[in-house]
Amino acid sequence: MRWEDFADLLACPETLEPLEFDAESARLRSPSGRAYEIRGGVPILLTDADRREFDQILAAQGRSMAQEYAAEPPPAPATPEAPGEYFPPMVLPQGLIDEAYARKGDKTRVLSVGGGPTRNSPREINLNMAPFREVDAVGNATRLPFRSNSVDAIWCNAVLEHVAGAPEAVKEMVRVVEPGGRVICLVPFMQPVHAYPLDFQRYTADGLAYLMRDLRILAKGQAVGPSYAMWELLTRYLNGPGMVCVPRWIRGIVRRTLLPALRRSAAAKSDWTGNPEHEVLASVVYCIGEKE
Ligand SMILES: C[S@@+](CC[C@H](N)C(=O)[O-])C[C@H]1O[C@@H](n2cnc3c(N)ncnc32)[C@H](O)[C@@H]1O
Repeated sequence: MRWEDFADLLACPETLEPLEFDAESARLRSPSGRAYEIRGGVPILLTDADRREFDQILAAQGRSMAQEYAAEPPPAPATPEAPGEYFPPMVLPQGLIDEAYARKGDKTRVLSVGGGPTRNSPREINLNMAPFREVDAVGNATRLPFRSNSVDAIWCNAVLEHVAGAPEAVKEMVRVVEPGGRVICLVPFMQPVHAYPLDFQRYTADGLAYLMRDLRILAKGQAVGPSYAMWELLTRYLNGPGMVCVPRWIRGIVRRTLLPALRRSAAAKSDWTGNPEHEVLASVVYCIGEKE
């Protein structure tokens, strides 16, 4: 989304004062004199401290993420049987999400915290720590540069595990969403460590709901089940150099038999039987809350 289409929602990340565009300097300015540049159409709404910290992380541990985001994404496999990176369809209460994204029809603005380099909907404002592909505003999830009670809904997929201050990030989402608006969060539970740009923690669905406890919880549970979790963990275990402690012939059997079966099972959503046992090993969990 173009920044002009959400300029009325923006706030200074330090003072939360509203920001106004100053045509003379081509910057966004707060009444107390703080100024933020707009780089290539993307407002950079970071405090000096956050800018320094993010620059440092992206030059060190986050370098591979920045390189991946700068490259063209590899095509997703056409079928579950095709080789390559695979992520199965997620199962979510889509009606609750569709309502949140349709709150004001075509005028609905959904803040995607940690959004990009992909875009799910033209109604999303993708906020990320740097101006990667498809990022509309640069900011810190723990200091959202948005006015209180301003956005219609919030989407936050696979981000809270990467934020050391995840409770602060959720508090910020609660501050920024309008009363009656929904916050939709998804986090991994049974997944390998993945540094985007760092990786701090995992949550169960109950743990995530606890983080979101200032909202009325509408739904929570598993979004991706244990078949995918086991496929991903076993694949990583078998391919991880120096990680495998089982004989080669057993690895061969697992690769030829169990792994394809798990991948097909994940694609067929075989884990969605309503059995609460499945959540015990879920790959991804979700929680949806509404601000009262
Ligand atoms: C695993 S990726 C998920 C990206 C996207 N939400 C998706 O579903 O494809 C995690 C993202 O969170 C972003 N991120 C991590 N810490 C952040 C922070 N403090 N503020 C804003 N974005 C952050 C990273 O730059 C990265 O793009």
